[in-house]
Amino acid sequence: MKKIAVFTSGGDAPGMNACIRAVVRTGIYKGLEVYGINRGYEGMIEGDIKRLYSHSVSNIVQRGGTMLKSARSEEFRTPEGRKKAYENLRSLGIEGLVAIGGDGTFTGAKLFFEEFGIPTVGCPGTIDNDIYGTDYTIGFDTAVNTALEAIDKIRDTAAAHDRIFFIEVMGRDAGFIAVESGIGGGAEFVMVPETQTDLKSVVKSLKNLRKTKTSSIIVVAEGDDLGNAEEIMQKVKTAIKDPEKEFKVTTLGHIQRGGKPTARDRVLASRCGMAAVEGLLSGKTNCMAGVMNQQVVYTSFGDCIGKPKPLIEDHLKLIDILSI
Ligand code: F6P
Repeated sequence: MKKIAVFTSGGDAPGMNACIRAVVRTGIYKGLEVYGINRGYEGMIEGDIKRLYSHSVSNIVQRGGTMLKSARSEEFRTPEGRKKAYENLRSLGIEGLVAIGGDGTFTGAKLFFEEFGIPTVGCPGTIDNDIYGTDYTIGFDTAVNTALEAIDKIRDTAAAHDRIFFIEVMGRDAGFIAVESGIGGGAEFVMVPETQTDLKSVVKSLKNLRKTKTSSIIVVAEGDDLGNAEEIMQKVKTAIKDPEKEFKVTTLGHIQRGGKPTARDRVLASRCGMAAVEGLLSGKTNCMAGVMNQQVVYTSFGDCIGKPKPLIEDHLKLIDILSI
C-alpha cells in the first residue's frame, strides 16, 4: 500500500482534527502518500481530494471542527454515486481509506468496501458516544464538558430565582451526554431515549423534592420518548399545577459540537488515527479502531453499527441516589 486517503463525515466532533493529524503523520512516518478528501463522501464523489503533507496538519491539534469539512451525502447512498467515488479514488491510485465519523459513515464505508474492495478502517468521531467497539468516541468528552459548563451556570441562576430548569442536550438516539453531564452537574433528573420516561413519577418526585430544594435541574436528551425539553416542561408544568413555580427551558444545541477538544479527546483521536493507519498496513479492513479498557481494539463495521451500546447502569443509579 502506497497511497491512502482520510476524510471526516457526518456530524463534526471536537478532536476530528487531531485524528486527521495523526493519520497524516503516521502515514508519512510509514512512507505513505496521504490524501485528504474534503466534505466526506460528497468530496469523494466530486473528486475534491488533495495531497496532505506533515505541514498541512500543523496547528490543528487544538482546533474544533474539521479542516477537511464534513457533510452528510445523499448521493453516496446511490450505486451511481458510489461508482463515481470509486473512479475518483482509482484514478489517484488510492489503495486505502481512513473514515472518521459515526454510524452513518461506517454504514457507507461497509457498503463501499463490499462493492469495490478498497480497504477501509474507521475512527469513531461523534459527540454522541453511541458507537459499539470503543469506550468513548472522539468529541464526547469535550461535548460533555461544554454541556457541564452550561449546566453549572444555569444552576446559579436557577438557585437565585428558585426555578425549575429543563436543559436539553444533544443525543437523538443516545443519552450518554445527558447522563454524564447530568451526573457532573448534579441534576435532579436525567431523561434519555434508552429508558421510558415516567411523567407521573417525575412529577411526584419533583413535588417531594420541593420540601428540601427550591430549584431543580432536569437534563433532557433531545431524543427522549416524552418529547423535547420544551414539550416535557409543558407536561410537567401542567401536572404540577403550581402557579407560584417558575419553569424555564434552555436548549444547548450545536454549541456542544464546537470548541477546543479536551486532552482526553486529543489523546483518543491521536491513538485511533495512528491505529487506523497501522491497521490498514497490517491488512485490516472493514473495521474501526477504538479504545477499550485502555487498549486499541479493532471492531468490524458490522458490529459497530449493529450492536447497541448500552448506557452504564451504575450511572443511572447514581443520578437517582445523588439527587435526593
Ligand atoms: O450525531 C451527532 C449529533 O450532534 C446529534 O447529537 C444530533 O442529533 C445531530 O448530530 C444533529 O445533526 P445536525 O447538525 O445535522 O443538525
